[in-house]
Amino acid sequence: MIKLIKPTLKFKNSFIKAVMEYQKEGYRYIDLNVYELKNDFPSYLKSLANHEKGINLINYQVPQITFWLVKNTEFIGSTRIRLKLNDRYHKQGGNIGYDIRPSERKKGYGNNLLRLALKKAKKTGLKKALLTCQKDNIASQKIIERNGGIKIKESEKDKHYSPEKTKYWINL
Ligand SMILES: CC(C)(COP(=O)(O)OP(=O)(O)OC[C@H]1O[C@@H](n2cnc3c(N)ncnc32)[C@H](O)[C@@H]1OP(=O)(O)O)[C@@H](O)C(=O)NCCC(=O)NCCS
Repeated sequence: MIKLIKPTLKFKNSFIKAVMEYQKEGYRYIDLNVYELKNDFPSYLKSLANHEKGINLINYQVPQITFWLVKNTEFIGSTRIRLKLNDRYHKQGGNIGYDIRPSERKKGYGNNLLRLALKKAKKTGLKKALLTCQKDNIASQKIIERNGGIKIKESEKDKHYSPEKTKYWINL
């Protein structure tokens, strides 16, 4: 059975394998150091907890809650929920970001991950969530639309316009 959990030491090995998959793909977690993760996973967990509390934020970051999608002992993917948005996240990133590790894609997990993330976001009191994705990311657009995404019509004159992004609101 799949479930959404807070990051924990229990999934250390599976998470590190997933990081290596992502790094090979060159997309997520490129800044993480596998050697450091292996040696001191609690520090990584602490950095996620700090990010949630708004501690040690850098540049454009805002507080965000990370959840992991897991199945039995395996890490499958992750989602990040941001309750407050700044200009950067209005342009790209929105309230919810998510990804499925490369070896577990095209099995329906992405769709389920967003469904569960929306439930969590609703519980925090968020009324509607902004989702953004690359215009050529067909899988993500399908997932967002299947989960109630309403496409936002934007023009170049709009404050948060970002030409390469398709954006949606999802009412929670
Ligand atoms: C986008 C992503 C989360 C999709 O995860 P996934 O587990 O493969 O998604 P699902 O299996 O739930 O598939 C959802 C739909 O997209 C389709 N799909 C999946 N991968 C696809 C691809 N590469 N090209 C076209 N369609 C694709 C599936 O067939 C499915 O369509 P259906 O509902 O009509 O059957 C995953 O590819 C990923 O992590 N990508 C990198 C990060 C990313 O883009 N995150 C989203 C940011 S907005």
